[in-house]
Amino acid sequence: MGALDGKTAIITGGGSGIGFAIAERFVREGAQVVIAGRRQERLDAAVAQLGRGARAVQTDVADEAQIKRLIDSVSSLDLLVTCAGGAVFGPVEQVQTKAWRELFDGRFFGQLSACHYAVPKMKPGSSIMFCSGIAGHAALANYAGGAGLCGAVNAMGRSLAIELAPKGIRVNVLSPGLTRDTAIDWGVPPEAVPGFLAGLSNNIPMKRPGTVGDMADAAFFLATCAYATGMVLDIDGGWTAV
Ligand SMILES: NC(=O)c1ccc[n+]([C@@H]2O[C@H](COP(=O)([O-])OP(=O)(O)OC[C@H]3O[C@@H](n4cnc5c(N)ncnc54)[C@H](OP(=O)(O)O)[C@@H]3O)[C@@H](O)[C@H]2O)c1
Repeated sequence: MGALDGKTAIITGGGSGIGFAIAERFVREGAQVVIAGRRQERLDAAVAQLGRGARAVQTDVADEAQIKRLIDSVSSLDLLVTCAGGAVFGPVEQVQTKAWRELFDGRFFGQLSACHYAVPKMKPGSSIMFCSGIAGHAALANYAGGAGLCGAVNAMGRSLAIELAPKGIRVNVLSPGLTRDTAIDWGVPPEAVPGFLAGLSNNIPMKRPGTVGDMADAAFFLATCAYATGMVLDIDGGWTAV
């Protein structure tokens, strides 16, 4: 018996990184999982690894019609996990406003519109988990738009937790710290990534990046703890405690 036997989960961004680790964990616990992302090859590879009835719906979460099609692909939904999206790094005078708008299209409006279509399909006992990032709490240079995005997602999660509590739907936000083994574009050449991550790790009391498995542990907790709602859970090796 798994803790998620009989549950249906949709996981955006489930083709790689944090979303894929959450999909693996949910499948292992017995859930039927639908993953979503833009690249079909990435989704196909992920589904092949997940096995056990996992399937994929190719989706750009910045496109509301595609979000609707994704949610329409299930008859009911117990767990909505929205991890899709990237990041935009760079000095404020260099990054174009268009890049920040695109970030919000996917990572803010993508998460909000997924809720818009999912909530009518969710029974009492269901749960929603958004994904933000510690930039919503910890000031990071060269990440102004991302910081604003993370703060907005945190506020959205708390607001929806209050709104949806009477329906028996819990809403929480996973706020990852620096996490390795993901496909995220750090804005540095591939060969510079290890040094880049090592430099950032100096800010972390535990002196290491998190793993996608650390994030999946937190997502599993938020999916199963029946009294957890309205939380922004920083999983960050102590970064935001300093
Ligand atoms: N890694 C970290 O240190 C860190 C820290 C804080 C927050 N986060 C956040 O955690 C979330 C997961 O990221 P990750 O680190 O696991 O990186 P990742 O491996 O790049 O995962 C992001 C996934 O989202 C998908 N995606 C991106 N834009 C999309 C869109 N418009 N529509 C649908 N799918 C989209 C990507 O697949 P396609 O490109 O195929 O669509 C990819 O599979 C992101 O929101 C990220 O910003 C990460």
